[in-house]
Amino acid sequence: MERRTFLNWVGVGMLSSFIPVAIAACQSTQTNNSPANKTATKIDTSIREDGFQALGTVEQLETEGEIIDRRNAAKPVIIFRNPDTNDLVAINPMCTHQGCTVKLDLEGKQLACPCHGSKFAFDGKVMNPPATENLDIFAVKQEDNLLLVKVN
Ligand code: FES
Repeated sequence: MERRTFLNWVGVGMLSSFIPVAIAACQSTQTNNSPANKTATKIDTSIREDGFQALGTVEQLETEGEIIDRRNAAKPVIIFRNPDTNDLVAINPMCTHQGCTVKLDLEGKQLACPCHGSKFAFDGKVMNPPATENLDIFAVKQEDNLLLVKVN
């Protein structure tokens, strides 16, 4: 085999092995978006006329126990079900003390801040300082499989 033919074959081989990688790198991955969300589901997150926007699905919530959205809404949002009432709750998880992200503790029935120990009830009210202001609560509803939140 001539040197030129050999180099042509090697070039074609390298090119064909890089094309799938390049295509995969260019694909859109727009999904609902919390790093915690392990089930990637494409939803339309645009704000509707009534002010609500879809930030997750019932399936996501059932699978993961919570949905955290930091990119699609005007403020960060955590969605979960109150274990006592089974009602949907949508709340701003940014601690009102110094802005750390509170963690959902369903068994303890609270949202706990890992930074300085503030605790909040599921209605956003401060249970334990140093935070003195309540967390923002958002209107939330379910339509079919979508979870819609009104972040104002
Ligand atoms: Fe949450 Fe300080 S930032 S208690």
